[in-house]
Amino acid sequence: MKIYIDGQYFEEADAKISVFDHGLLYGDGVFEGIRAYNHRIFKLDEHLERLYDSAKALMLKVPLDLADMRAATIDACRRNNIKDGYIRLLVTRGKGSLGLSPDSCPRATVIIIAAEIELYPREFYTKGLRVATAPTRRTAPAALSPSVKSLNYLNNIMGKIEGKLCGAQEVVMLNEQGYVAEGSGDNIFVLKKGKLYTPPIFVGALGGITRAVVIGLAAEAGLPLIETHLTRYDLFVADEVFLTGTGAEVIPVVEIDGRPIGNGSPGAVTRGMMDAYHKLTRAEGAPIL
Ligand SMILES: Cc1ncc(COP(=O)(O)O)c(C=O)c1O
Repeated sequence: MKIYIDGQYFEEADAKISVFDHGLLYGDGVFEGIRAYNHRIFKLDEHLERLYDSAKALMLKVPLDLADMRAATIDACRRNNIKDGYIRLLVTRGKGSLGLSPDSCPRATVIIIAAEIELYPREFYTKGLRVATAPTRRTAPAALSPSVKSLNYLNNIMGKIEGKLCGAQEVVMLNEQGYVAEGSGDNIFVLKKGKLYTPPIFVGALGGITRAVVIGLAAEAGLPLIETHLTRYDLFVADEVFLTGTGAEVIPVVEIDGRPIGNGSPGAVTRGMMDAYHKLTRAEGAPIL
């Protein structure tokens, strides 16, 4: 694997950054997780836009302009012969002193890892996930907006650990008011009586690119979509629940906090959405070759 760091490529063993990089010292930086399907990068421009928005919110100056970052991302895929892959873009605050202040970091570090995709186990899709709600609340938007895809994922990691302690495969995180926010690394949708519901981003969720695609697919399918507050109760009594994310794509949830969802197996609307999403990923994207 050849890894891009600040304009140069390194073999994995030599792909290293300073221990004084504030990305390591403070989680000061932003990232994107992107997928390639059949020699094409899915929703590349949307991911780049979110990366630059996250950086802007943190007053982090990305040393490449968006067009150069786009070209570098495609080049990293090409050099690694990516057909179906996972791309991790990182922009850290860069090397500085031990103090918190970003003023000591003259230049941000850009890293592009274009790797083979490690798929989720097949049975997650055929049988669905058992999910628990996490005791840890999703970071409040007034503290650090969950719209910023920052290198500090401790909030989500706490949720993940708590889910595992309950024997669940994924968690749903609530906001401080107890409304459903999102999964640890995915957005959530609920189907009830033929209508699809999802929490609005301002509740405290990342504006997922897969979420936006699913909203578009729902419109195409004539499925009513309502963005509104949801509680755990709404999840318990849902006909179907699914999660969306770049890595997971569309993944069914069949149990939440011990309550079976619907009849306890992936529902027809979820399966239809999985298929539609799958088809779209193969139909469009920025060409690598
Ligand atoms: C916290 C969080 N929510 C939601 C998502 C889903 O976003 P996307 O569909 O853009 O991958 C992710 C993954 O990036 C995430 O980390």
